[in-house]
Amino acid sequence: MSDSQFKTVAIAGGTGTLGYAIAEAFLNDGSYNVKILRRKPENENEKAKLLASKGAEIVYADYSQHDDLVKALKGTDVVVSTLNFDPKGAGFYDSQAPLLAAAKDASVKRFIPSEYGAKFKTGTHVLIDDKIKFGEEVEKSGLEYTYIYVGLFQEYFGWLGYDIKNKKATFYDDGSKIFPTTSLHDIGKYTVETLKIPEARNGHINVAGANLSLNEYLEIFEKVTGSKWEVVVDKDVKNRFKNKIDPVPSFLEDFKATIVQEGQLGKFDNDKFSFTPKPVTEVIEELVKQAS
Ligand SMILES: NC(=O)c1ccc[n+]([C@@H]2O[C@H](COP(=O)([O-])OP(=O)(O)OC[C@H]3O[C@@H](n4cnc5c(N)ncnc54)[C@H](OP(=O)(O)O)[C@@H]3O)[C@@H](O)[C@H]2O)c1
Repeated sequence: MSDSQFKTVAIAGGTGTLGYAIAEAFLNDGSYNVKILRRKPENENEKAKLLASKGAEIVYADYSQHDDLVKALKGTDVVVSTLNFDPKGAGFYDSQAPLLAAAKDASVKRFIPSEYGAKFKTGTHVLIDDKIKFGEEVEKSGLEYTYIYVGLFQEYFGWLGYDIKNKKATFYDDGSKIFPTTSLHDIGKYTVETLKIPEARNGHINVAGANLSLNEYLEIFEKVTGSKWEVVVDKDVKNRFKNKIDPVPSFLEDFKATIVQEGQLGKFDNDKFSFTPKPVTEVIEELVKQAS
């Protein structure tokens, strides 16, 4: 059942990795009108077609044209931003600022910014600082807001250094480092339910499907693959990146090391939600199956 004040939800970037999972969850819930906000120019997209076939309305807007964006958001109660940064252009602030301005003028009630990671202190990383700066705008906007923190997407274990094909794990911190992770499927479900729980109104929600150490995730990978993995620990990435020491890590490696070393969530809100997240072992089994 939807909360009576929220009927129509627009997912900006609903064809992306995160956005698609959230769009699916709203469609599965069945009690919301779901709009997928896409950028102009309109182009063919399989995920958009799939979401449309499940009942979503695909809406296009030119983000640089305020009136166009306001028109696309008219009648929307909740905007879920799942926009990404553009490696060659706009950061998280610039990509989302037009959306927030239009949401205000379209009388949207609640805005969920594109957070969906861990919490960090200001000055930790340029990408994260941009999210923090945008968050300050959201809080000043007068719209209701909810920040949703989920740790790492469990589907991104490979990205983080768990290399299934080569049975090799690269840790950017000690193996004992605890790290929250959540599956995309559950992130979608958590997002839907934030509209129903009072603590989410102007709140920060921390959830995780699992909160294990790097070594404990590795043990699951080893058990599922039936083999012992090679482990490389590289805790010096951020120092080498900053001081350009050989081998100089890439921007991406520095970002991954930042996430593992500096990311945290604080107290979890899982108990405020009606469901139990999928066991991480099941997600890892699926990842191993896909890799073989
Ligand atoms: N915690 C984690 O492990 C983790 C991992 C990955 C991402 N994230 C977070 O999840 C969020 C979404 O990331 P994602 O990887 O799902 O993004 P993504 O797959 O790149 O999708 C974002 C979608 O938004 C639209 N878009 C992209 N750039 C835009 C821009 N500059 N302006 C307007 N629209 C734009 C695109 O849709 P159209 O072309 O259809 O308009 C795109 O499909 C980000 O906040 C990211 O930091 C977290």
